[in-house]
Amino acid sequence: MAVIENSKVTIVGAGSVGSSAAYAALIRGSARHVALYDIATEKAEAEVLDLAHGTQFTGTSDIIGGSDLWVVEGSHVVVITAGAKQNPGQTRIELAGVNAGIMKKMMPQLLSVAPDAIYVIVTNPCDVLTVLAQEDTGLPPERIFASGTVLDTSRLRWNLGERAGVSTSSVHAYIVGEHGDTEFPLWSKATIGTVPILEWVTPRGDRMTVEELDQIAIDVRDAAYKVIQGKGATNYAIGLSSARIIEAILNDERAVMPVSAVLRDFHGVDGVALSVPAVVSAAGAVPIRETQFDPRELELFHRSAEALRQVADSLRG
Ligand code: 2OP
Repeated sequence: MAVIENSKVTIVGAGSVGSSAAYAALIRGSARHVALYDIATEKAEAEVLDLAHGTQFTGTSDIIGGSDLWVVEGSHVVVITAGAKQNPGQTRIELAGVNAGIMKKMMPQLLSVAPDAIYVIVTNPCDVLTVLAQEDTGLPPERIFASGTVLDTSRLRWNLGERAGVSTSSVHAYIVGEHGDTEFPLWSKATIGTVPILEWVTPRGDRMTVEELDQIAIDVRDAAYKVIQGKGATNYAIGLSSARIIEAILNDERAVMPVSAVLRDFHGVDGVALSVPAVVSAAGAVPIRETQFDPRELELFHRSAEALRQVADSLRG
């Protein structure tokens, strides 16, 4: 990855997600400068030191960090991972109250030192936190958005690639909606190469069935619960997803990614943040209005939006 001279990303939160995102960004060369900020001084400094010790092997990116706000200064992108994480069996929505409070306190501090940055919210429930933070800060919706279902879409593409016997990069399918229990795949537009998903012939000589696709969608939706049950958290895939989003912004890629930004009059959804394919560039994230839903998908989209609206409404002071 060609690193843009003097590009800087700060990752807020030195827990497993934030540290993994910093690690991924260093290895991929997502930015010239990677900063890791956390109010827990000892933890932040230890993670930065451990990452710095490996920078001989990571190309031209460098790592700084700690618990002083100046660490964040001049960031082009700020990725927020700080907050409580899911315990085994806990939903992301159950984190809303405590993490909304953390965000409400933290955003003005971050904006005071990085007023022009693009803000990417990873902390869960990322969709709800995004709509509340956008309202609280008054930032343009394109400049504060969530990683949303970028991670879930990566999980879907991996599952489909495994079953179809092709590279994940050749699987063109999206998870949209909440980054959570009401997410769903846009099967009507899913292809492998140019072949509609149900027409693809796998190496076994068979085709995927609707029942198989439905099961894959359930496996994707529930993937985090399974990983959290086994290892206590998810971190690698969300770290890599975050690094990929950072790159799309810093390289002004205009890449299509299913991030979650506040939608305005979007297929009947207004004032809610949830994931749809969006153009991600140095300007931030702009949802693609021409995204098409079949009738069943539109119903699921509205159901996801309504679930998120209710949570956001319950948290508005
Ligand atoms: C994930 O889906 C927990 O939101 C995190 O891995």
